[in-house]
Amino acid sequence: MYVLNNVKLIIMFGIMILFLFSCKKEVHVNMSIKKQPFGKTEEGVLVNLYTFTNEKGMEVKITNYGGIVVSIRVPDRDGKLGDVVLGYDSLDGYLEKSPYFGALIGRYGNRIAYGKFTLDGIEYSLAQNNGENHLHGGLKGYDKVVWQAEEVKSGSTVGLKLNYLSNDGEEGYPGNLDITVKYTLTNNNELKIDYSATTDKKTVINLTNHSYFNLAGMGNILNHKLIINADRFNPVDKGLIPTGELKKVKGTPMDFTQPTAIGARINEDDEQLVFGGGYDHNWVLNRSDETINLVAKVYEPTTGRIMEVLTTEPGLQFYSGNFLDGTITGKGNTVYEHRNGFCLETQHFPDSPNQSDFPSVLLNPGEQYIHKTIYKFSTE
Ligand code: GLA
Repeated sequence: MYVLNNVKLIIMFGIMILFLFSCKKEVHVNMSIKKQPFGKTEEGVLVNLYTFTNEKGMEVKITNYGGIVVSIRVPDRDGKLGDVVLGYDSLDGYLEKSPYFGALIGRYGNRIAYGKFTLDGIEYSLAQNNGENHLHGGLKGYDKVVWQAEEVKSGSTVGLKLNYLSNDGEEGYPGNLDITVKYTLTNNNELKIDYSATTDKKTVINLTNHSYFNLAGMGNILNHKLIINADRFNPVDKGLIPTGELKKVKGTPMDFTQPTAIGARINEDDEQLVFGGGYDHNWVLNRSDETINLVAKVYEPTTGRIMEVLTTEPGLQFYSGNFLDGTITGKGNTVYEHRNGFCLETQHFPDSPNQSDFPSVLLNPGEQYIHKTIYKFSTE
């Protein structure tokens, strides 16, 4: 009897192994990368659109023009796929007018006061493309360049490795900056972004991604519930340049330490909200070290979709789509009205090159800039 039981056990174990093996094989079959032409830039350079699918059916589309995330399709609580980022169906939309939809931003994401900073006694002047300040890398930032692209596939992930050499003096920044950004889609419904860069001359760097999310896929984002793991934020002046203070969020509309609807306090008569036209601020993330930390979570009640943000960066710019005003018609003829999308840009603090008390954004020759961010999707 005892021997028979053991034989049964061995057979069952064998069947289980075979079952697991066949499942694993299926993963490889289902994960895919598709490449198709997306159009030509004004200079006539052909760019492609890459479609990545994981075994759960999550699908991400990325183009090597600006490293733009064009679409992210994730299931809702009933398993129905929906696109949760804003953007355009074709390259032309991005070429004509885009408020940085889905794009890679650099060399310095966010603002630098008066477009000026000094390194080793040399003053550098950048484009003042946002009032008197510099924004998102200048007139032709990394959101408007063509990146070299290489498809990457491992046993359980698919993705795209992008490379761009930003020349010494480009947009006024010093140093040849050799940048790699790797987008990876995993079977845990994560989109991972790994940034790295090296320079041959001392420079400043702050790379980020400017995806506009709407977890309902349409409408305004005011009912999305947001948590930001930050006890302090950077108050700003009228031009959205940090004053230098790290202000406690407690007792202010900036407090997202508990899940709170984005719209709950957005129209309060608060100086910071007035300056930003809503939320357009950097949160000083609570973190004990520079490893990857869970820093934000968003929940959309009608679809049950959740997005978590993990990053190695010290700051998070939460922008509530205040400049969207119905003048852009995007994917599937959707008109993007006021606050129809929000951004959670993982980054260093704005204007850090001019604020010596902020974490350093300097990159020296021989050093490597490393930044990791994960957008993870699930439902509840
Ligand atoms: C960032 C800025 C905003 C705005 C958007 C793009 O999030 O902080 O002020 O410029 O980019 O419209």
